[in-house]
Amino acid sequence: MTTASDNSSSRRALTCRADKVHTVTLVLPGGREAVFRAGSSKSIYDIASYAGVHLPASCRMGTCTSCVCKLLAGHVKQPQQSCLPPPLLKQGYVAICCATPTSDVTLLTHQGAAVRKWKAEQPAKGK
Ligand code: FES
Repeated sequence: MTTASDNSSSRRALTCRADKVHTVTLVLPGGREAVFRAGSSKSIYDIASYAGVHLPASCRMGTCTSCVCKLLAGHVKQPQQSCLPPPLLKQGYVAICCATPTSDVTLLTHQGAAVRKWKAEQPAKGK
């Protein structure tokens, strides 16, 4: 059985004291929303997992696009991702396995297929 105080303790355990904590809203398939608080010590993906929100992921190091979401509002930091070229970053795509919020954020989940489609449509380099 989970009590309100259990939830509060769990949330505290997910962030370090020096963290600035932000509200993360994930818009899931079907329009459902998952809302939780996240600092900068864990990725948005990890915090979502701890909160019981199961999202697609594979590499968990920013290389595969499985976890990619689209930023609808706010700002994130994702210095270690390498799967999103500048045009996709400019469109707001975020590899949440290696991203942390720098403000309150709203993200549309399950965007990996859209990113892979965009990549497949790009002309091959060197042709
Ligand atoms: S799980 Fe591979 S980029 Fe996030």
